[in-house]
Amino acid sequence: ALLSPQHKPLAGKRAIVTSGPTHEPIDPVRYIANRSSGKQGHAIAAALARLGAEVTLVSGPVTIADPRGVTVRHVETAEEMRAAVLSCLPADIAVMVAAVADWRVVGTAGQKIKKQPGEPPAPLVLTENPDILKTIGHHEQRPTLVIGFAAETENVEANGRKKLAAKGADLIVANDVSPDTGIMGGDRNRVRLISHGGIEDWPELGKDAVAERLAALIAERLNQGKS
Ligand code: CTP
Ligand code: CA
Repeated sequence: ALLSPQHKPLAGKRAIVTSGPTHEPIDPVRYIANRSSGKQGHAIAAALARLGAEVTLVSGPVTIADPRGVTVRHVETAEEMRAAVLSCLPADIAVMVAAVADWRVVGTAGQKIKKQPGEPPAPLVLTENPDILKTIGHHEQRPTLVIGFAAETENVEANGRKKLAAKGADLIVANDVSPDTGIMGGDRNRVRLISHGGIEDWPELGKDAVAERLAALIAERLNQGKS
C-alpha cells in the first residue's frame, strides 16, 4: 500500500532544490556569506523525494548530512550554484531555498591577505551575484512550479509580494527572520505563503513539518494545474 501511486503523487516529476548559504571568497581563507543552516532546504528536498519526485539538491556549504533519496550537488559560490541549477533543466519543480550571497568580491586574492600592523586592508570591491530564482522564473525552460523563499526582517508581506512579481515565481514562502523571532538557525519555522491567489499563514511548525506541508501543496498544485 505504501508504494501505491496515491502515496507517490510526484512520481515521474523532476525537482531542483537549492539550500544553504553560498560562500564568496575574499582570499583562500576568508569569505562572505549569509547565515543559513540548510535545514529547511534539505528537509524540502527529502519531503519531495518521499512523494516520489526525482530530486536534485544543489547545496552550498552546510554542516548537516545529505538527505536520503536525493541527488546532491555540493557547490560553494552563487555562480557555481547557478550553473548547477541550470544544468538540471528541464524540471517540473524548482524550490529555491538557498540564502545566496547577493554580492561577490571583485579581484579575489590568490594568496592570504596578510595583516599589516596598524594598516587596514584595502576596502573590498563587490559586484552583484546572478539571481538564480529570477533566472529560473523567466527561463525558456521554466519549470511548471517555481517557488522562492523570502527571508525578511520587516514588511514581510509587502517585500514578499514584490519578490513574487520580480522573480516570476508562482509562490513565495516568506518568513520573518528578525533576531527576536529566534527562527534563524533553529529547527522551527513560521511561514507565510504568498501567491497570486492570496496569502496563507501557517502556524509555527518544525522545519520538517513545513517541508512536508509544502511538498503536499506542490503535489496538489501540479496535479490539478496552477491556481
Ligand atoms: N535568490 C537567488 N539568487 C540570488 C538571490 C536570491 O536564487 N542571487 C533567491 C533565494 O534563494 C530566495 C529568493 O531569491 O528564494 C529571495 O531571496 P532574498 O535574499 O530574500 O531576496 P533578494 O531578491 O536577494 O532581495 P534582498 O536580499 O535585498 O531582500
Ligand atoms: Ca538576498
